[in-house]
Amino acid sequence: MDTHALIDYVLERYSPREVAMALGVDARTVRRWQVRESDPPPYVSDAIRQRLLPLQGLENDAPADFTFIDLFAGIGGMRIAFEKQGGKCVFTSEWDSYARKTYAANFHDGPGHVFAGDITTVHEKDVPDHDVLLAGFPCQPFSIAGVSKKNALGRPHGFSDKTQGTLFFDVARIISEKQPKAFLLENVKNLVSHDKGRTFSTIIDVLENELGYKVTSRVINGKHFVPQHRERIIIVGFREDVGFDWDGLALPDFAKAPKLASILHREDGSEPAEWNCLDGKKGKVTANYTLTDNLWAYLQNYAAKHREKGNGFGFGLVTGKDTTRTLSARYYKDGSEILVSQGAKKNPRRLTPRECARLMGFNDEFRIPVSDTRAYKQFGNSVVVPVIAEVARAMKPFITREEASPRKRSKKVA
Ligand SMILES: C[S@@+](CC[C@H](N)C(=O)[O-])C[C@H]1O[C@@H](n2cnc3c(N)ncnc32)[C@H](O)[C@@H]1O
Repeated sequence: MDTHALIDYVLERYSPREVAMALGVDARTVRRWQVRESDPPPYVSDAIRQRLLPLQGLENDAPADFTFIDLFAGIGGMRIAFEKQGGKCVFTSEWDSYARKTYAANFHDGPGHVFAGDITTVHEKDVPDHDVLLAGFPCQPFSIAGVSKKNALGRPHGFSDKTQGTLFFDVARIISEKQPKAFLLENVKNLVSHDKGRTFSTIIDVLENELGYKVTSRVINGKHFVPQHRERIIIVGFREDVGFDWDGLALPDFAKAPKLASILHREDGSEPAEWNCLDGKKGKVTANYTLTDNLWAYLQNYAAKHREKGNGFGFGLVTGKDTTRTLSARYYKDGSEILVSQGAKKNPRRLTPRECARLMGFNDEFRIPVSDTRAYKQFGNSVVVPVIAEVARAMKPFITREEASPRKRSKKVA
């Protein structure tokens, strides 16, 4: 691809301003290149490849060990984990335009891949054949915070939430039609106890009895791999009784788990300045992440009031030696669940989006092309990548081995 074609390619994904920022030129220069009014200097081609293109390059036709689809894909946390095992993503569904932007900035897909929006409008027959179906279906209808908010507003939750609660059935109709060898579903731990266990029973009943899969589930804490307490239920199903066993997972001891210091900015000048959250020669975290006096006073008062009432609501102040609470999609609001102490003389600060990425196990090559608010939401909604990667590693031998019975089609979901 020549440099002009590369510029056209990135301008389909980023605004001229974003391209200009990444290349260190002004937006007018980018527009002149775009309309062929001037030619970009030779370095631009390399700079685009290094700073703006997805990491695997432009062509992703490498032979794959298996294929998978990425439903409710968010920013592709599950995809990273399954690609690590040699899987190739053939279909993605995500409807949020900002999540799609982050996804597109990190994965390049050729013509063999479909990037769909709202899954409820996709006919199951239009989904390509695949070996593994991945779905982190929305958790708000089942999460403790989501349920209490919906209760307070007098709104239905769980399966009765007609817009978000029934998306599991979209997953089920695709499994029914495409009969993948295996699936992995991920959700909040509260899914198990929601509605006195009835929601979870219904899900397992559909997967086992209506779709005929061998299903097993386990709550896994992200703390095995990252300095964050994050418990999520992982449901794994195989079309055949392959003998998949959770004991095959290698989960490092909590005692040996990394602590917060391992994901905080080094603040010694060794990290890229273009992350926009670092300042000066030493790359100190910029002042806007430090809480204002007002907000810090408010959070302390709020916590004190709740302490008096004998409950533990309040902020979570951590140092480099700690493990954090669960990062939520609402972290942008006040950051109260994870505040990094900056010593007695300074107010604490929020994590930067890059630190949130690390806290979820994303590596530093992962691109964050959206505002901080969007980025916090996206990482708070995502998965702890190494947890899913470990499950994917344990599943792989059963996905890639020859099957005893051929693919059956179209079991009916009642
Ligand atoms: C819990 S998040 C999953 C995040 C993902 N596992 C990751 O690693 O980033 C659920 C995602 O489903 C998306 N979503 C919700 N309803 C959808 C729909 N009807 N069609 C497609 N995507 C949807 C949301 O925008 C959100 O990004």
